[in-house]
Amino acid sequence: MTKVPGLATAQIQGVEVGDEIVRLAWRDGHQSEFHFLWLRDNCTCVHCGNRAVGQKLTLLCELAEDCSAKNVLVEVDGSLGVEWLPDGHRSTYAATWLREHCYSETARRERRHNPVLWDAALQEALPETSYDTCFGDDAGLHYLLGLIRDRGFAIVHGVPGSREAFERMVRRVGYPRETNYGRMSDLVATQTPKTLSNTKHRIPLHTDEGYRHANPGMLAFQCLSNSADGGGATLLADGFKLAQHVREHQPQAFDVFSRVSIVARRFHVGEMDLRSASPVISVDYEGRVQGVRFNERSAAPLDVPTELVRPVYKALGVWQTLANDPAFQVQVLLKPGDFLIFDNQRVLHGRRSFAGHRHLLYAQLDLDEAHSRALVLAARLGETLNGALMHRGT
Ligand SMILES: [Fe+2]
Ligand SMILES: [Zn+2]
Repeated sequence: MTKVPGLATAQIQGVEVGDEIVRLAWRDGHQSEFHFLWLRDNCTCVHCGNRAVGQKLTLLCELAEDCSAKNVLVEVDGSLGVEWLPDGHRSTYAATWLREHCYSETARRERRHNPVLWDAALQEALPETSYDTCFGDDAGLHYLLGLIRDRGFAIVHGVPGSREAFERMVRRVGYPRETNYGRMSDLVATQTPKTLSNTKHRIPLHTDEGYRHANPGMLAFQCLSNSADGGGATLLADGFKLAQHVREHQPQAFDVFSRVSIVARRFHVGEMDLRSASPVISVDYEGRVQGVRFNERSAAPLDVPTELVRPVYKALGVWQTLANDPAFQVQVLLKPGDFLIFDNQRVLHGRRSFAGHRHLLYAQLDLDEAHSRALVLAARLGETLNGALMHRGT
């Protein structure tokens, strides 16, 4: 995780008021520009309230759009003081807070969280830890959460072979999410399988449950018993890496994926009819990847304008080929006591077929709690962190 450069020693050296802008020169040479509206909106005095704790008291629409700074000065304690026109309101901003929230191009780039993108080469250095480490102390949990945040997955060894231990492990990361499939379920081959996961077939790489508006943030598996034939290995691929590859080598496919929504559906008569439409690659307004969703087994018949049918099928073919290319995959043969957790909005998973008896436990979690815990722990462990969103590709 990137630390905020210059934050610990943030000191305002010079102030200049421009057209709608307050310019700050910092002692370490950095420059910031804050818009009048931005500063006025972010006042945290008792009258305006503190939005960091969800207690903002003013409405943006109540602020004068033409508000301007009458007096701007550096106070004796180093903070920035502003007296506003037209209402004479006074605001004070701590220097470290301003530096932490500087939105210059450099500052935004510096505090970006950059995940570690990976391919088959990661096989030599899988992100692994142990049950004892995860429960040992804050640093042990911080390590686990860091692996999930940066590589999108982690393997934990030495987990006791019980449902209680599985739930304890899941709860160490976040809260299990209850769905129509329950809170925790068993992945075993059955005589009357409802989904491919309850068979012994191979499963191509995919993300889970794209037919939900909020698809699962993370998936957790624990192996209770593995197949004696050595089959059933889990395959993983980094969706952020695939997206990067598609953007570089197949820009037309990337364009289709980021613009066109694919409808996914899970339908069991009289029981459930889940439907949602989302792009295979979600991007933010700057074009950075926010998540991937891909599951050919739950894709509903294409529902796009005629001229997009061929381009969408072509792009899906590109993605399928890449996702199932061993050059982008790592393989994890889960043994009893192994726990695997991964970001389902980033990492694709699949498995090899098997012949024997294989029993995994399965649970879903949201990303929120894990990210929140990672930030709280980092602060407790003395890392000065930035305000970057942690789930972003390139
Ligand atoms: Fe799955
Ligand atoms: Zn105020």
